[in-house]
Amino acid sequence: MYKILMTYNNVEGMDALFSNKDFKVEVHNKPNPEEFKKLIKYYDGLLVRSEVKVTADVISVAERLKFIGRAGTGIDNVDIFAAGQKGVVVSNVPDGNTISVAEHVIGLMLSLSRNIPEAYESLKSKKWERKTFLGTEISGKILGLIGLGRIGTEVAKRMLAFDMKIIAYDPFINKKSVKISGVELKTINEIYSQSDYISIHSPLNNDTLGMINANSIKKMKDGVRIINCARGAIINEKDLSNAINSGKVKGAALDVFLKEPPEDWTIIETNNVVVTPHLAASTKEAQIKIAHEMVEIIVNFFTKGLIKNAVSVTN
Ligand code: MLT
Repeated sequence: MYKILMTYNNVEGMDALFSNKDFKVEVHNKPNPEEFKKLIKYYDGLLVRSEVKVTADVISVAERLKFIGRAGTGIDNVDIFAAGQKGVVVSNVPDGNTISVAEHVIGLMLSLSRNIPEAYESLKSKKWERKTFLGTEISGKILGLIGLGRIGTEVAKRMLAFDMKIIAYDPFINKKSVKISGVELKTINEIYSQSDYISIHSPLNNDTLGMINANSIKKMKDGVRIINCARGAIINEKDLSNAINSGKVKGAALDVFLKEPPEDWTIIETNNVVVTPHLAASTKEAQIKIAHEMVEIIVNFFTKGLIKNAVSVTN
């Protein structure tokens, strides 16, 4: 019997794992680092979402661990190097939330352009302020995508229908591998200098950490709007807040933050910043798609020795 530690409590879509007699699944929702280190030694498999950090420290005491399933896309919360060195396979489910995230990006972009959250607040407090919330059309504007993978591509498809001009920067993609027509590949500096809206769709890594900062913002068009549903640490929050306060950046729509929940609320309290608490992938459809695929991956791994979506494998 394989013992699996699940560190989130949304078990919807996981029935095939819970009812499988080869597995015993135990749920400990978001253990703190000390609890996590005590627990992990008893398990063969681990399932995590983005809230729980699987550090080298945790992996070092995971005596039986063979498999980490990341129920989602981003793997920045798992030390895949430490896992790989210990022979622990890490698999993610990169496709299940693509559409949900793309739709959330568009929701944020429209909210930002039309001041929907502020107008909502105002009307709910019984004020009728039609003049205060003058918006802007997105039709005819240039959308610069940083990252043209699954989510970036789905955003592009939909925003072409809104008559936006789409440009994209992706260091891993060339003209031939672009999966959509109507998107022009550009350098990162061209994205900065030409875009009216910039939306981030890159993973967090050494190249993207803090890439939106005072220096890169200087290269952007005056009045640019920035959307981030990728990872908070890609943006230097203080620099963005200063740029919005100075008027260089018109506004931002953020679903992700440097620390979640935030410790420093500066960017959230900045005017013209629309925020949601890391909700882009939180739809019923995405969670069920991810759960089904994760169950298939973990069952096949332990019972058939099959590896799928591995982001770290050694030995
Ligand atoms: C992801 O990386 O899949 C999303 O950010 C959602 C999450 O797991 O929290």
